[in-house]
Amino acid sequence: MDLIQFLGRFHVLLLHLPLGILLMVACLEIYAVYKKQARPPLVKTVWLWGAISAAGAALLGYLLSLGGGYNEQAIATHRNWAIGVILCAFLCWFYFGKISTKDEHKHRKSIVSLSLLQLFLLFATGHYGANMTHGETFLVEHAPNFVKKLTGMEVQGDNPSSLDEASVYPHIIEPILQQRCSSCHNDSKAKGEYSVASYEATMMAVGTRGGLENSELYRRITLPEYHDDFMPADGKTPLTEQQVTLIGWWIENGAQNITSVSSLNTSEDLTSLLIETLGLGELKVIKTIDEISPQLVAELEQAGFHISRVQQGKPYVSVIYADYAKEFSDEKLQSLLKINEHLMWLKLSKSSITDTQLLRFASAGNLLNLDVSHTKLSQEAIDKLQKSNEKMVINSFNTQG
Ligand code: HEC
Repeated sequence: MDLIQFLGRFHVLLLHLPLGILLMVACLEIYAVYKKQARPPLVKTVWLWGAISAAGAALLGYLLSLGGGYNEQAIATHRNWAIGVILCAFLCWFYFGKISTKDEHKHRKSIVSLSLLQLFLLFATGHYGANMTHGETFLVEHAPNFVKKLTGMEVQGDNPSSLDEASVYPHIIEPILQQRCSSCHNDSKAKGEYSVASYEATMMAVGTRGGLENSELYRRITLPEYHDDFMPADGKTPLTEQQVTLIGWWIENGAQNITSVSSLNTSEDLTSLLIETLGLGELKVIKTIDEISPQLVAELEQAGFHISRVQQGKPYVSVIYADYAKEFSDEKLQSLLKINEHLMWLKLSKSSITDTQLLRFASAGNLLNLDVSHTKLSQEAIDKLQKSNEKMVINSFNTQG
């Protein structure tokens, strides 16, 4: 069985021999007729070589098909065209061999027609054979959209220009599977009877019960590489860590099809990975911040904070603590931190703020300018806060440190 498989794989190599010979000799025949030249005597022998090598390649092809993993229908189509090639080549050898040089002009039409037929058979056989090894869309996969349309391929709308426009399966997951899995798992050649040619087919191994632990596909791409079940098999280029992360994220979010990427749960890291994957590099996702509610403004004013907008139309604010003579209590801090994302300028100078309280402002990611001058803060605490937000300018004039 191993020997059969071993020989079978030479089909892919040997088939180029009859292809080259028959292509050449058929073109030569047509050329000779067109130029009204005598046909070289050796031509007849070349047809025979072509026919024999075609038969040899076909035999190896048959051995290869015994190994399984190919769609029966696809094999049958390829095989029938190949039989056509062989028969036509033997016919040409036999028939053209009978034509004597002085009678050649009488047979011009049949010489040209048979040669053209041979060319056609070769192309058809090659086409269906290539579809089996590479998948039907191999040739035009990277073609411009108008060529894809000509061949009846589905053309996806132009690349998405935002996470809102991107659909999770077609734009993120499918390209990965096409790149790394489809050579063995397509409709005509489905190793392990598994295909990634469509969303529905792919789902067969994803697991519909949800969760990574139920997913055969996820299990296989996360095994150690030396494991027998590891995919892609046969030492083919494995998925990158990012690709595995994306597939895991997709499955955890319900392995959906045309759902917008932005409607799924994403961590910050994953968002940047998605942006990178989709080539949206320059686009920054700005997290939208709600306006501060009037009740909250009232509560803060009550606690002694003066709030003003930094810029019309933006939610960011500048806050001054005016009641600095009173204690800066933890309750006040608590209220203030309710708007931690809105804080851009904050003046707490002369207040009784403590080191521990100061460090809570690490959560104020948009805080650009913090005035804690004339307080009892230690340099250590100020340095610590500075480390958590390097952009922040801290006025620490006349502090303890
Ligand atoms: C070089 C060929 C090859 C490549 C590339 C390849 N596979 Fe496979 N795959 C196989 C073979 C052969 C089997 C059947 C043997 C087995 O089960 O391990 C298989 C089986 C599978 C199965 C099991 C199907 C079932 O019956 O449940 C899954 C799932 C799978 N592959 C996923 C993938 C994924 C995902 C990729 C891409 C990351 C991939 N394969 C790439 C050859 C390949």
